[in-house]
Amino acid sequence: MCGIVGYIGPRDAATVVYDGLKRLEYRGYDSAGVAVLAQNGRIAIRRDVGKLSNLGSLLAESPVSGQIGIGHTRWATHGEPSQRNAHPHIGMNGHVVVVHNGIVENFLPLREELAAEGVTFASETDTEVIVQLVERYLESGLGFDTAVRQTLAQLEGANAVVVMSLDQPDQLICARLGNAGGITLGLGRDEMFIASDIPAILEYTRDMVFLENRQMALVTRHGYQLTDLEGEPLKPEVHTINWDPVSAVKGEFKHFMQKEIHDQPQALIDTMRGRVNFEKGTITLPEMNLTTELVNSLNKIIIVACGTSYYAGLIGKFMIEALARIPVEVEYGSEFRYYDPIIDEHTAVLAITQSGETADTLVASEQARDKGATLWSIVNVIGSQSMRIADGYIAMQAGPEIGVASTKAFTTSLADMYMLGCVLGELRGVITPTKMRGFVNDLAHIPNLAGQLLEDESVYENLANVFHNAQDFLFLGRGINYPVALEGALKLKEISYIHAEGYPAGEMKHGPIALIDETMPVVALATSDRLYEKMVSNIQQAKTRGGIVLAVATQGNGAIGREADYVIEVPATSELLQPILNTIPMQLLSYHIAVWRGCDVDQPRNLAKSVTVE
Ligand code: AGP
Repeated sequence: MCGIVGYIGPRDAATVVYDGLKRLEYRGYDSAGVAVLAQNGRIAIRRDVGKLSNLGSLLAESPVSGQIGIGHTRWATHGEPSQRNAHPHIGMNGHVVVVHNGIVENFLPLREELAAEGVTFASETDTEVIVQLVERYLESGLGFDTAVRQTLAQLEGANAVVVMSLDQPDQLICARLGNAGGITLGLGRDEMFIASDIPAILEYTRDMVFLENRQMALVTRHGYQLTDLEGEPLKPEVHTINWDPVSAVKGEFKHFMQKEIHDQPQALIDTMRGRVNFEKGTITLPEMNLTTELVNSLNKIIIVACGTSYYAGLIGKFMIEALARIPVEVEYGSEFRYYDPIIDEHTAVLAITQSGETADTLVASEQARDKGATLWSIVNVIGSQSMRIADGYIAMQAGPEIGVASTKAFTTSLADMYMLGCVLGELRGVITPTKMRGFVNDLAHIPNLAGQLLEDESVYENLANVFHNAQDFLFLGRGINYPVALEGALKLKEISYIHAEGYPAGEMKHGPIALIDETMPVVALATSDRLYEKMVSNIQQAKTRGGIVLAVATQGNGAIGREADYVIEVPATSELLQPILNTIPMQLLSYHIAVWRGCDVDQPRNLAKSVTVE
């Protein structure tokens, strides 16, 4: 949830750290702070509440200079967003400073113990127990790394930390405990970088090491030593990241969300690149490590995910069941981890996650693997935990997604699940080469059709003009488009703060129809498929109750205009791929309504990009 950056080397540490935080602000924006080991031999801290730009102004008014520093953007868990609760946190005697992501679950007893020993606390955060513990261990004569290890051994919960000490002015220590978001080391020449996410340091290096659970690194400007929490040296695996740093920048667009909506045609191409052979009509997914034997031994697939990724999973169920004829269940990670699902070695669990660091999805995945399931993941962030723990994965290749509201990761994950369904179907012998060629051919057109939907945003600007004052919205869909309705409602809620509900259209008469009146816009996903006529009756039912209907319909459907008040046209494709296209109007509608209402589209209140706590 929180963003972390650390630097040691010849550059100005405050600048490197602050610039890195700018690329991570989407992770949390309740407060931000930087600590630098200043040239006067003291730790200088600058912290402020609210957006990162407040910290920027503070640093401009009151600069700090030094060659080693750490910084943080906060998404508050313990303690209100305030200056005193902002990170970095410093020990009582001013010798140690810490930035932290996660939750110290036993912070209350630790705090009470420390208080009984005379420690005074300056904040209400759980983080502060970490820094006070390290400082006390250092004062008792332990070395820096041992003091940090002793501290980590006392913490319960999933936590990621970076620690800096006056007593070791040439070292930073970072560590990861559980799934509280990543810790990445960036390897430079005579300089080293630490970050919770790759984009923060991509400008400086592409060679990165990802800390696994219960690993710690002692970092100097000339290198690093990776160990486990007992101090045993470990052999690091260096990954070279091939992301384009430019795609992490907004460019001509007003918001990252808008840019990422427009990235979709390219992201869809990128996700197929090297996997789909359009000439031969074949699909290969080498990183999935699929064999005929494995696939034929499976009797079900369980998709686990959260939020938008969960809705993608609901669409994936339709795709995989239709293409591969294998039963698929879809579960929220946060629910799945707390019951006793029926899983064995004949089950494959497929995690869908943009960040690859969502705590609930990761725990659910690990639990399933412990019960004998094969673990797969569809993930965007290269090197993230979900990718690393999987037996097989598909990298979405959507590029960095910065806007908190997920857009391109949703549609690329749909293309990935479609490809997975095709490959599974082929291995199970239910897709013939001729059928496969047809599926590949349908897929080939999708990026171009997605591009057509992005040519003119004025229709959405006009709709935003009409609807921006609505209090509630209802999104309706049937079959494979029902999860698109759920996603449409979630997008609107997230970024415009308008209450919205997604509903299976056939269920409307069992309750939500009571909500419909002349103030209630109803978005109806009514593209031409097997259920089109049913959708038309739902539209008529909504109209009869005075509802204002905005239909998403297939291009060239002249008749729908007689039923609905407003129509958005989308190009036709196969039923299984239609959700990719139908989602784009949902994204653009929410985006323009949020812009009209003056909302902070990229950083909606109370949200964070990756939810690395429970
Ligand atoms: C999407 O718009 C969300 N902000 C959120 O629901 C997100 O999809 C969810 O937290 C899961 O994230 P993940 O894909 O990184 O696991």
